[in-house]
Amino acid sequence: MCRAPKPPRRPPSGIRHGARRPRRTAPRRTRAGPPTCRACMTAGSPLLRPARVPALCRAPWCCGCANQARRRQNDMRAKPHGSARTASPRRYLMCPPTHFRVEYTINPWMVPTHPVDRRLATDQWNTIRRTLLRLGHRVELIEPLPSLPDMVFAANGATVVDGKALIATFRHPQRAPEADAYETWFRGRGTEQVRRAEHTNEGEGDHLLVAGVILAGNGFRTTRASHAETHDYLRRTVIGLTLVDPRFYHLDTALAVLDDEQIMYWPGAFSPSSGRRLAELFPDALRVEERDAVQFGLNAISDGHHVLLPAAARSLARRLADHGYRPVALDVSELAKAGGGPKCCVLQLSPRAGRRRRRVGHPHGGRRTPSHYFSWRSSPWVSPPPAPALASRNRAAR
Ligand code: ARG
Repeated sequence: MCRAPKPPRRPPSGIRHGARRPRRTAPRRTRAGPPTCRACMTAGSPLLRPARVPALCRAPWCCGCANQARRRQNDMRAKPHGSARTASPRRYLMCPPTHFRVEYTINPWMVPTHPVDRRLATDQWNTIRRTLLRLGHRVELIEPLPSLPDMVFAANGATVVDGKALIATFRHPQRAPEADAYETWFRGRGTEQVRRAEHTNEGEGDHLLVAGVILAGNGFRTTRASHAETHDYLRRTVIGLTLVDPRFYHLDTALAVLDDEQIMYWPGAFSPSSGRRLAELFPDALRVEERDAVQFGLNAISDGHHVLLPAAARSLARRLADHGYRPVALDVSELAKAGGGPKCCVLQLSPRAGRRRRRVGHPHGGRRTPSHYFSWRSSPWVSPPPAPALASRNRAAR
């Protein structure tokens, strides 16, 4: 039988003729349900069978099967330019969601009439904690207080850099008393230096350390005025970034630090000038799509290799895998009802990603990396106000 010749197959949009199709790393899902591990086709969370799991496999939706052969194969393929991603052990502070509820609205995700399943929230929080422990990190706990339903979001309690803790000053009165609890915790642990912020700043929710500098969000919670204080106390360059979309009210909902020098972010969350600044500083950054950002995909915890992120941010997990990271998908549906994800639940105590960089390469030679820009004091993008200015302003205010 004579058949008409098949029409030439058109590449999907965005792919050039002749270019290799991107490898499909997650299975097509035909119905709602838990994600399926591509390595063994088991559905469910990565922590279903922790006892049998020596290590996570590289599949974006790993069920914990640790399929070694597949992992080796994926590792070889996924690392661009043969680069190896290495995890560094970290210490985190977390607060159990014992009193977690949504009873007020301080961000657009919070709807007090939507019921929160606290047991499920506790399971989800435990999964984050157990995953961190399983990956070799240390987790300390702070006691939750009954009157503070958002205290589970420990990231907002303080900013810790070089052993110094800058305790948050919350914008909203509903969360303000959390600062006392965090201050007591840090003082009780013999932290070398502890200071309560004078200006409103919501800790590591708005302060992210990368390449030795602090990226500081402002616009909704942390104030621009607080950046000078942060710089003066923590002695790091502070780069202010203005958030403009109320759904992304903390910097850690719009931008995540992947390793010492790399970030991922959703440009739409930033003002045009902050977007330009990010593009200049991180030309190789992973620009995330809105559909992943609204799933709190950027509220991710990375140790330089493993990236814990919400399971709903599917295409982002695939992209991270293609860049040599090992995504670990977590269900955070209940925490998301308060506007939070995995990263909101952890305050990183040590070590902080990014060391102080004293020397950088020639500005016109070699590849431009963020560390070029961070030969600070000389960088045109970085303008921390001089310390005496803040000191005299503080004196005048007293
Ligand atoms: N309901 C909390 C608030 O609006 C959520 C905090 C999330 N924390 C974070 N680091 N993004 O303050």
